[in-house]
Amino acid sequence: MKVVLVTGGAGFIGSNFIRYYLNKNQECVVINLDKLTYSGNLSNLDEVVSDNRYVFVKGDILDKDLVLRILGGDYSPNGQKVNRIVHFAAESHVDRSIKDSSPFVQTNIVGTQILLDALRESWNKEDSDMRFLHVSTDEVYGSLGETGYFTEDTPINPNSPYSASKASSDLLVRAYYETFKMPLLITRCSNNYGAYQFPEKLIPLVINNIVKQENLPVYGKGINVRDWLYVMDHCEAIDVVLENGKLGDVYNIGGNNEWKNIDIVNLLCDLVDDALGREKNSKRLIKFVQDRLGHDMRYAIDASKIKNELGWSPKYVFEDGIRETVAWYLENKAWLENVTSGAYTDYYAKQYGDGV
Ligand code: NAD
Ligand code: TYD
Repeated sequence: MKVVLVTGGAGFIGSNFIRYYLNKNQECVVINLDKLTYSGNLSNLDEVVSDNRYVFVKGDILDKDLVLRILGGDYSPNGQKVNRIVHFAAESHVDRSIKDSSPFVQTNIVGTQILLDALRESWNKEDSDMRFLHVSTDEVYGSLGETGYFTEDTPINPNSPYSASKASSDLLVRAYYETFKMPLLITRCSNNYGAYQFPEKLIPLVINNIVKQENLPVYGKGINVRDWLYVMDHCEAIDVVLENGKLGDVYNIGGNNEWKNIDIVNLLCDLVDDALGREKNSKRLIKFVQDRLGHDMRYAIDASKIKNELGWSPKYVFEDGIRETVAWYLENKAWLENVTSGAYTDYYAKQYGDGV
């Protein structure tokens, strides 16, 4: 039976992954270790909270004793030892890393090192079918010009404190594989979109602001390009690599779906206005603002390795995924309000205390 430790499972991708995993697997245990920072919200997991295969532990990946106890089975319903780790927990927003990189260094680098050390201490090479997947980003490769794609062989060349911290954690994972032959895997994904993304990232921020008829901040000229992937496609790809990826390898995951930021913002204006039956005039809210420092121009993933070796490619067509995403945020305005209010975070902290 799979006993999966998901770190950062109350965040955007982690919560989608937990729902995906519990739906897909009948017999399994999912333990969600999350510190509940501003971007982690337990309401993202309301659908699974009463599922007896799911356990929430409020805690920090920097707490090695806690991680060791989880790996050893202390938090599993029947004391089962963990045999899968999917490591999402991170500080994830570039703009925040520009303001203050210290939490990025702590969680993304030191936190990953602590998880790796906890696994090294508890892992029994002989009888374990353990697999640890480190969720990383295409941003570690740096920025592309107008042409070309990131492959797994592209040299790491991070430009922001966020991507530097992710690249550092990738290098630790690589080094622990080379040194200790631990069962480690790395995925590097392009920008995700979908339900439950904290509204500081471009797509939910723009949807939220259109609903509220507030300015839509577009950095610089809006010509930077991102390769957007639906979060459910990402969850499936992670599961495929977790089970079938070659240990020690890196797998790029991408949507083959490049958009200039300004085109995404214009599209969202049309979709939200349409869905709300409003006159199509939200584009007047677009405001070109000062560019992000060190703003990477273009990301684009070559995902042929995961396609050729593991048979994965994205299932969702962007036009459908983005419509579903807009519909979700419009149907969940209370969620948007709640996750941006401090009182809400305090409420959940009181409800759940230190977890199960
Ligand atoms: P997110 O910010 O929505 O969620 C991060 C989660 O980690 C939150 O629930 C937070 O409470 C938790 N967390 C933070 N510090 C912690 C700590 N010290 N201990 C325990 N939990 C902690 O992020 P996301 O967008 O879901 O990203 C998840 C992972 O995927 C990250 O590693 C990120 O680098 C990577 N990634 C994200 C994208 C994207 O487009 N969002 C793309 C590629 C890779
Ligand atoms: P973001 O969602 O922060 O993801 P990342 O920086 O990790 O790619 O930003 C996506 C793109 O949108 C990026 O080029 C920066 C730009 N952007 C804006 O133009 N305005 C905004 O308010 C935000 C948050 C991002």
